[in-house]
Amino acid sequence: MKVIEVKHPLIQHKLGLLREANISTKRFRELAREVSSLLTYEATNDLSLETVKIQGWEGEIEVQEIAGKKVTVVPILRAGLGMMDGVLDYIPSAKVSVVGIYRDEETLEPVPYFQKLVSQIDQRMALVVDPMLATGGSMISTLDLIKESGCTNIKVLILVAAPEGLKALEAAHPDIEVYTASIDSHLNEHGYIVPGLGDAGDKIFGTK
Ligand code: PRP
Ligand code: URA
Repeated sequence: MKVIEVKHPLIQHKLGLLREANISTKRFRELAREVSSLLTYEATNDLSLETVKIQGWEGEIEVQEIAGKKVTVVPILRAGLGMMDGVLDYIPSAKVSVVGIYRDEETLEPVPYFQKLVSQIDQRMALVVDPMLATGGSMISTLDLIKESGCTNIKVLILVAAPEGLKALEAAHPDIEVYTASIDSHLNEHGYIVPGLGDAGDKIFGTK
């Protein structure tokens, strides 16, 4: 599994702001979206291009356009929705495949409750988004599900990942690529990432 911790100064600056304990819902949403766009920029740097002819101001010219597989964004409900628009800012025509999974607070096991994948997902590159990779259970379960539907080209975008989650993800899905703004220190006894962001879903939706 390829893991890219993106050290770009804009990402690191915005991640620092996201970690502020008393951040407002509005600000958290804005920053999560911005960091997601920047991660998308990094994750798409190997998309293939093809040359096409267009009419320029002085006659016909050759320009580059993106070729090959189309994209589906896969937000993991709920918190993944906070990253979706950041991806769509750069890939506005991407289709969206929604997966609903929550983590049982006692057992930390993933509990799937919804899925609506785009048709022919096997012909698309999936950008799976979730702000937090803690034990890795929710992400592993999501990747199991989209692979069962034939998807083979998968990249994962995470705001903050725990080493424990990355290890579990690598064991289950060694073929994927992970882009994250940070690999944090560890999980605490409740399965929360330290230093982390706290409960990302609550921060994005304003719940508690
Ligand atoms: C959070 C987060 C991930 C999951 C990570 O979701 O958004 O989906 O926990 O934990 P894991 O790696 O141990 O599975 P949560 O269960 O809080 O649901 P929510 O998005 O609906 O708030
Ligand atoms: N889910 C979160 O929202 N935060 C964590 O630190 C772990 C799981």
